[in-house]
Amino acid sequence: EIAPDQGSAGPTGLPAIAEAARACRACPLWEQATQTVPGEGPADARLMVVGEQPGDLEDIAGKPFVGPAGAVFDRALAEAGVGRERAYVTNAVKHFKFEPRGKRRIHKRPSVGEIHACRSWLERELETVDPEVVVMLGASAAQAVLGRAVAVTRERGRPFRLPDGRWGVIATHPSYILRLQTEAEKEAAFAALVHDLRTAGGLVG
Ligand code: URA
Repeated sequence: EIAPDQGSAGPTGLPAIAEAARACRACPLWEQATQTVPGEGPADARLMVVGEQPGDLEDIAGKPFVGPAGAVFDRALAEAGVGRERAYVTNAVKHFKFEPRGKRRIHKRPSVGEIHACRSWLERELETVDPEVVVMLGASAAQAVLGRAVAVTRERGRPFRLPDGRWGVIATHPSYILRLQTEAEKEAAFAALVHDLRTAGGLVG
């Protein structure tokens, strides 16, 4: 029997994209992870936020940014006056990559190859939601959206046009803030994240 033709673009509509992503075998990360973690938010969101990959708690919950990084993200959004419920929140890579260490699962950064393998899901989310503004949280998100290595500290906070005409804003990843050593460093990086999210929110027409 011949399978119904889905067209070269594959599934469309957020639930169909999420469903298809559950069966993704484009890279080996699915083997270790509990589940695919698709993006979440309104299909007509004007603002899309792209993270790196689900963490330990996201992998279990099946939802993006619900763990410690999510708490920082939520606090920064609130301070920036951007309602999370109005944003579409997703990740560059949709499976949790980790290294087992005893009972713990230690986050491992996705490779450029893994980011590339996952890219078609992000593209479909972008096409479907069609946001005006795309926030890239950290280097992996920027690599996914821009297709190049980015020095976040140098390029963050300054809006620029993406090739498809949308606004792009690079910002510091919340997990990076959590890993900083001193309170002063954390406060400064958090203030920068709030600033960049406010900038992004202000670009929504
Ligand atoms: N970090 C991310 O980049 N994404 C999540 O969903 C959670 C933590």
